[in-house]
Amino acid sequence: MELLKLGISGISDAVDQNTLSKFLEKASEADASLRAGSGPGSEFLGWLDLPETIDDSEVDQIISAAGDIREKRDALIVIGIGGSYLGARAAVDALTPFFGRSGPEIIFAGRDLTGDYHADLLDYLSDKDFAVNVISKSGTTLEPSVVFRILSNALEKRFGANGASERITATTDSEKGVLRRLSNDKGYKTFDIPPGAGGRFSVLTPVGLFPIAAAGIDIRKLLEGARLMKDTADNAKAEENPCLTYAAARNALYRDGKSIEILASFNSGLATFCEWWKQLAGESEGKDGKGLFPASVVNTTDLHSLGQWIQDGPRIIFETFLTVSGSHRAPVIPKINGDPDGLNYLAGKTLDVANDAAFRGTDEAHRAGGVPTMTIDMAGLDPVSLGALFYFFERAIAVSGYILGVNPFDQPGVETYKKNMFELLGRS
Ligand code: PA5
Repeated sequence: MELLKLGISGISDAVDQNTLSKFLEKASEADASLRAGSGPGSEFLGWLDLPETIDDSEVDQIISAAGDIREKRDALIVIGIGGSYLGARAAVDALTPFFGRSGPEIIFAGRDLTGDYHADLLDYLSDKDFAVNVISKSGTTLEPSVVFRILSNALEKRFGANGASERITATTDSEKGVLRRLSNDKGYKTFDIPPGAGGRFSVLTPVGLFPIAAAGIDIRKLLEGARLMKDTADNAKAEENPCLTYAAARNALYRDGKSIEILASFNSGLATFCEWWKQLAGESEGKDGKGLFPASVVNTTDLHSLGQWIQDGPRIIFETFLTVSGSHRAPVIPKINGDPDGLNYLAGKTLDVANDAAFRGTDEAHRAGGVPTMTIDMAGLDPVSLGALFYFFERAIAVSGYILGVNPFDQPGVETYKKNMFELLGRS
């Protein structure tokens, strides 16, 4: 079964076949250099083969530690920022029910420095038995470090030093960094982040897998989806290879002056996935004065907000629709005697039928308004399809970065605000 279908017919007014073929050639070359480890940042390719090489016993350990938390705790607080939380949050939001999820609450913290949020969180946790998963590859990022200090202190006060250590899991570098040292000193349970997997490419390492498993999601299925997509990415002919075609198409559009890509979903469960994608694309490509600006909308909500700009604003955008086929749960619109609100023409249809019409109507309208469109259609909103989607974007964005001529695996620009902030905070 095809887990993900890429449709690019909506770019044909902006990119002709010749141009696309030229970019497809560049994409093949870029992918070859990625696989050969001969491109920039090649020390950060640990994610490339991960779906196949991840150790089965490590997956067992992750599932067992997550099961322990599901059995014993009311909540798991996942502390991390950027690539250290977005993948896990994307999966939890996409694959668990909107309301009344079973098992411990999964709460994300340390992804900013909002005082109110963290003060409210401490109040909320005051009568709960909670665990903490602190995730930081460097171990020195201020936001998660300082929030971990606050929460581990709260745990120690409530449960004593041993009780706190029992409730803390650290996911960090296997050897280096403050968090590794602290974990060794305090005897925290730890998971290693493979050295070659940078934050935004780490969702299929313990960084993402542990919190995702704690939310009750089948991580073996997630990995299976990623493996299937890797197989396609490795073996499909260029023109049938979704990773290469997407990377080629977005670069061709970029050269045509379309410098903003909008990922548009019609399912609010994918809102955080769009945030993950924005981080992956933005931090990987926006450098050396180059790079597409990744934006996102969740429709139909945003059709009543940014939809106006997309339809009629500057023609510097293209849109990638993220859709989900397959069966959904959706309420049926009831028939009401007398048709008081005039909606009986929809009676008997599900909300999905209306949503699909909204998607198709939007695609047509935006194309008519001069916005090239692509579609990435997932076979379903399930762990296998999501695993495939994670790997699809990781591979495609890495290839896309190489076509652009940047190192997709570093983020030198992030350091500038940190330097200023640390100076203002008086760090020696
Ligand atoms: O993708 C990245 O590399 C970054 O977004 C990092 O994940 C983020 O800065 C957090 O870094 P760390 O895990 O070292 O705390």
